Amino acid sequence: MLGLETSCDETAVAILRGDHSGHELLATEVASQVAAHEKYGGIVPEIASRNHLIYAPRLLDRAASAAKTRLSEIDAFAATSGPGLASSLMIGASIAKGLAIGFGKRYLGVNHLEGHLLSPFFGVEKNGDNSIKPNVSLIVSGGHTMLVVVRGLTNYQVIGHTVDDAAGEAFDKVAKMIGFGYPGGPEIEKHARRGDPKRFDFPRSMLGSQNFSFSGLKTAVRYLLPKIDVIPSEAQRSRGTALDEDVSIAAGSLAFARDDVLRDLCASFQQAIIDVLVTKTIAAAQKYRLDLVTISGGVSCNQELRRQMRDASCRKGIEFKSAEPWLCTDNAAMIAFAALLRLRAGFESHVTEEIDPNLALVL
Ligand code: KG4
Ligand code: ZN
Repeated sequence: MLGLETSCDETAVAILRGDHSGHELLATEVASQVAAHEKYGGIVPEIASRNHLIYAPRLLDRAASAAKTRLSEIDAFAATSGPGLASSLMIGASIAKGLAIGFGKRYLGVNHLEGHLLSPFFGVEKNGDNSIKPNVSLIVSGGHTMLVVVRGLTNYQVIGHTVDDAAGEAFDKVAKMIGFGYPGGPEIEKHARRGDPKRFDFPRSMLGSQNFSFSGLKTAVRYLLPKIDVIPSEAQRSRGTALDEDVSIAAGSLAFARDDVLRDLCASFQQAIIDVLVTKTIAAAQKYRLDLVTISGGVSCNQELRRQMRDASCRKGIEFKSAEPWLCTDNAAMIAFAALLRLRAGFESHVTEEIDPNLALVL
């Protein structure tokens, strides 16, 4: 099974060998376009699709030689068919369809969210569908935050979603406010490691609901920033102004004090997000009487989130599973894996099936 992922700004190709008892990853290649979009402060769809066109053929070559195979020997071609940027999705899907038609093989369009949702089972599943144990799945990425009750392959019920920003989007927007680059999550996590998560009391919104909201948290950070003065302005730099008196900082130098506050800010912000994600996920597992919690998507790379979700699950006697970090951010192995499970379960797509930028997990 060859999978292509081009839903956003990552071009990825992976090849899996699968039979009825399991699967083996033969190749996985990812080309990131972060640098190409950074100077515009966001993803430019036109640049993303042009880069997918440049990178995809190279990655196909690299993947085939890493897997010691030829594209003509692949049995089925899969691509992300949504959700994502239309002009980006079109590139991967068109390539996969072209290869399937050219070599007379099968084509599978895969929902990006299903790729994330199944990724915690990558490498552990046996006997196809039966191995996807019922679970409460938290998908947390730059574009999505949702809680899904998974009863088996293709049997999904979305029980909660964000009403405004996705968790990763909140990480990215706050990172931008404090002058970090994109993606902001890893940088915030790095600073948070030595910070005090109790220093700033940020809101934990909609705790009584299964839905999420992170825009209030983002606004709270925005209002706090001028008070704590962690981002020195040009004027302050030349004047050497001291930090705001409201905030007591026992530090020797101005730069050291700023780093200190910044670390506490990152830790407090990160903890607010983690509290919300952990509380709602565990509550859902209890409500739906499921004894497995899985997390996936870029934000699930966050080590502190993984640790706290694992601990909270353990305290309630619930099993916890997450994919290895390289499988959490966008990649094609998760797409090939979802396609493999679907193919085994008898699904396949017609090449006339269109991409859908707003494709829902449950149709
Ligand atoms: O799944 P993904 O690669 O792309 C989407 O489908 O959106 O997720 C990317 C998101 C970004 O918002 C990024 O900041 C976030 O995942 N992320 C993290 C971490 N690593 C990536 N957020 C928090 N902590 C991390 N370590
Ligand atoms: Zn994703």
